[in-house]
Amino acid sequence: MQNKRLYIETFGCQMNVHDSEQMAVLLQSIGYHLTDDPATADLILINTCSIREKAEQKAFSELGRLMKLKEVNPNLIVGFAGCLAQHLGRKVFARVKGVDLVFGTHNIHRLPEMIASVVKSRRKVTQIDFSSSIHSLNIFAPPPKRSLCAFVSIMQGCDNYCAYCVVPFLRGPEMSRIPEDIVHEVRELAKLGVREVTLLGQNVNSYGKKLSEACNFVSLIEKISGIKEIQRIRFTTSHPKDLSDELIDCFAHVPKLCEHIHLPVQSGSNRILRLMNRGYSSEEYLRKIDHLRAVCPQISITSDIIVGFPGETVRDYQETIDMMEKIRFDSVFSFKYSERKGTAAQTLPDKVPESEKRRRLKELQALQDRHTQERNSVLEGSLQEVLVEGRSRNSEQDMMGRARSWKIVNFKGGPELIGEKVFVEITRGYLHSLRGKRLIVKEVGDAAGDEGIGIDA
Ligand code: 5AD
Ligand code: SF4
Repeated sequence: MQNKRLYIETFGCQMNVHDSEQMAVLLQSIGYHLTDDPATADLILINTCSIREKAEQKAFSELGRLMKLKEVNPNLIVGFAGCLAQHLGRKVFARVKGVDLVFGTHNIHRLPEMIASVVKSRRKVTQIDFSSSIHSLNIFAPPPKRSLCAFVSIMQGCDNYCAYCVVPFLRGPEMSRIPEDIVHEVRELAKLGVREVTLLGQNVNSYGKKLSEACNFVSLIEKISGIKEIQRIRFTTSHPKDLSDELIDCFAHVPKLCEHIHLPVQSGSNRILRLMNRGYSSEEYLRKIDHLRAVCPQISITSDIIVGFPGETVRDYQETIDMMEKIRFDSVFSFKYSERKGTAAQTLPDKVPESEKRRRLKELQALQDRHTQERNSVLEGSLQEVLVEGRSRNSEQDMMGRARSWKIVNFKGGPELIGEKVFVEITRGYLHSLRGKRLIVKEVGDAAGDEGIGIDA
């Protein structure tokens, strides 16, 4: 078999990261192996995001940079993939000379065939049709290196049409994989050493709605929880309107489900939420937060917020700030509204000036930093279960892993701990991570000693 080199640059969400993993697996079957160095690659794929204008600009500037490699290696094949490729199709060829292949979000499974065609004919190839089935979601893509954590796509697409969002246009209508395929994939991942799975979809709470057999997201979580080797389950992203009481209760009765939920609120103003077509009010959102904290007081809650949506007044924005003060999220991804072609919000009046969006975003982020710091400081003195992923970026002597809350924890330790579940007493809560001391714990609640005492965990 050929031994060729593949370089993939990925932009955007976890869904895209997972799609890139699938591309790598498929291309392995025709002799391509991943490299970290684009200059040595025979094939370069850029997996793009289109959610905000900035993401598009980044993808094109990276494409421009990588295209220079064609001057040195004229046989280099360059492919443009993902949401932006879905959106632009053949227009990419006109915009950047020398691109060989453009393919969309539903065509990943055709990649080996598309590459073969480019190699054979040196003709440009475009594939951006939407398919009515989810072939590509069934590609088994174990994480690249030996890894403890893996993503598993359980659905794709979205039917919600939030007024600002291009995803329904670029990922197509919502489609769920059948539970048997998902459970089979998780079992295979477990055999390869995976201990933590993150179930992925644009709106995982509506998983299974269109399937003929009775299966909802809660029953899927319960099925996966039954797989012995899997120690932790996470999911993302949830839509507040579809977050059921039954799912909230899982945080109390499914021990493997990690105590973290990412629940994008987008705005605290009911007027803006209506304009955004979000399908819930701020009061309903707050009730869900109260319910989550009632069943699981230690739950970590993160969110997405957009500032400067068309028509957002200072008062609407203040309602978002008031909501943040009430809830005190563990962390928030916040964005300036970015106008996207074809979305409902594009036609709305009263656009907020860029400078005002910038001002609101800066103020909101400063507030959230205070809340994040506060939420992390409160954890000082607490005992956290950490799944050790590798060396810390901070220091040679430190290891890092994630607590069940998804927060990063750094502590002193050696690489022999990679893959282990350890218990760490938090000594300091920082803005972006926690620091602690590993405790040697025989059983949960039985702290036998300090770090360095050689009793096995
Ligand atoms: N402008 C700004 N932010 C957006 N998001 C989605 N579309 C836009 C847009 N047009 C944000 C939302 C979403 C997150 C993934 O990206 O907050 O939850
Ligand atoms: Fe976009 Fe809304 Fe669907 Fe999320 S739920 S992907 S924000 S349309």
